[in-house]
Amino acid sequence: MNSIDLASLNQRFALPGHVQFKEGPGGLAVAEIANAHATAMIALQGAHVMTYQPRGQAPVLWLSQYAKFAPGKSIRGGVPVCWPWFGPHPDDAGKPAHGFARTVLWEVLEASAAADGATRIRFGLVHTEATRAQWPHPSTAQLVVTVGADLRVELVTRNEGSAPFTLGEALHTYFHIGDVAGVAIRSLEGCDYLDKVNNFSRAKQQGAVVIESEVDRVYLNTQADCLIEDSGLKRRIRIAQQGSRSTVVWNPWIEKAEKMGDFGPEGHRGMVCVETANALENVVTVAPGAAHSMLAVISVEPLG
Ligand code: BG6
Repeated sequence: MNSIDLASLNQRFALPGHVQFKEGPGGLAVAEIANAHATAMIALQGAHVMTYQPRGQAPVLWLSQYAKFAPGKSIRGGVPVCWPWFGPHPDDAGKPAHGFARTVLWEVLEASAAADGATRIRFGLVHTEATRAQWPHPSTAQLVVTVGADLRVELVTRNEGSAPFTLGEALHTYFHIGDVAGVAIRSLEGCDYLDKVNNFSRAKQQGAVVIESEVDRVYLNTQADCLIEDSGLKRRIRIAQQGSRSTVVWNPWIEKAEKMGDFGPEGHRGMVCVETANALENVVTVAPGAAHSMLAVISVEPLG
């Protein structure tokens, strides 16, 4: 990973009062952002937003204390980018779950300061022989991350080829919560979902989502802002989404978390994934020459 030349990255893209590039955990190259609104850290591997903390707030993203930081390993926490498929590959079980974008190197294409004091960085996935072997469609993926009073993450896919392709994707966001027992997820009321814990059976959400056991659901055809009400941290996290029709809600609970090995004994209590996605029935067809964008805007409000 440290074929990355930090000095030249800093020369080209560092912005005083906004962003510098350094060696982060496990030697991974990271963009460290500190501006008037917030701090954040983004690994170049996976363009993986690892932390985001508005000033005066508890961290908004959950990052496992036991996360592994190593080349080619997905980081447990933050915002893994699932691309160009979500979950298992639709017809080749040998390909990695959630695609390869989260474990390959992305390059920095641009860094800038916005008029409101936010910091914006644009990353581009670096295709290699290995990525092309898994995904033969000529295409680009870019992630535009804006760190300010809110966190904006936009994933833009462009079809550079001459045939359409089908895209599955997710901003697989791990949110930091006070305790799972004090959390309700709202705005999915009445939505249909496919329940991965129950053999993908279809069900309709009644009331708010509460988590008292393993939850792994793909909510379909929903575009409303998703709200995580957290009575422990006395705040509401709002996830506004564009270009996304699925919302995935996931908490592995005790047994599954134990098997994963990078969650820690009580890890599942302090997190919930609410993922801005296009998955299963909501995969997207991208026409030749066209681009598709999926945006999540994450903000925090006091719980009144
Ligand atoms: C969720 C899936 O999005 O990601 C779950 O719905 C999966 O089924 C989870 O277990 C974590 O996946 P991974 O590959 O990061 O361990």
